[in-house]
Amino acid sequence: MPGRSFNTGKSNAGQASGATLASLDDSHVVAAYARWAPFYDRFFGAFTASSCRIAVGEINRLPPGRVLELGVGTGISLPLYDRKHRIVGIDLSREMLDIGRKRVADEKLDNVEALVEMDAEALTFEDGGFDAVMAMFVMTVVPDPDRVLAEIVRVVKPGGHVVLVNHFSVEKGPRAWIERWMARYSAKLGWRPTFPIDLVLGRPELKLIRRQSAKSFDLFTMLVFERV
Ligand SMILES: C[S@@+](CC[C@H](N)C(=O)[O-])C[C@H]1O[C@@H](n2cnc3c(N)ncnc32)[C@H](O)[C@@H]1O
Repeated sequence: MPGRSFNTGKSNAGQASGATLASLDDSHVVAAYARWAPFYDRFFGAFTASSCRIAVGEINRLPPGRVLELGVGTGISLPLYDRKHRIVGIDLSREMLDIGRKRVADEKLDNVEALVEMDAEALTFEDGGFDAVMAMFVMTVVPDPDRVLAEIVRVVKPGGHVVLVNHFSVEKGPRAWIERWMARYSAKLGWRPTFPIDLVLGRPELKLIRRQSAKSFDLFTMLVFERV
């Protein structure tokens, strides 16, 4: 798969925020997560567990349906979904998915339909094939977030739900300074420490119905949208 760079100037949302994003491409992401995979759960899992519970809880409140999780990674969220839902997970990293597949087998998660190696920017699913889409800690990682949002809009049914959880950057204060300093290592880290929330807001097809802190030291925000 050819590597792609994300140029904020091409994104409507990016233009709205006037943000300059660090450039990532698929090869950065694949290499970074091949490195992270063996210890991802112990390192990030502990840090993101409460946000993950809150976000999956949001999906569990919905009637039974088919849920797509983008950037499902090691499948750390999968045991948390109510068995009334059928889950499809996709990710770009084979190493992360291998751990997810082992989890599905070990924990007998028979409501998981499939874990597939796929690019969130070019989903092979039909239009409107899902009742909900979840993406946790993914939008700051993908090379072209605007293209991923367009794909989300395409595959969720009208009236369906989209839950995003992410770290969004701030403009002022010590945290802003640390984020800007870390941004120079985006390619190595495989994610962007600087990522303004405006980049995922303002799409007319996604009506924001909730925005709340997703705990974990107030670093993460959950956004819940309805597909109009
Ligand atoms: C920070 S991890 C989050 C994993 C999981 N959502 C969690 O909360 O533990 C980001 C994941 O997004 C995946 N990813 C990055 N770019 C992607 C893309 N274009 N398509 C699909 N997955 C992607 C990475 O491989 C990685 O597994």
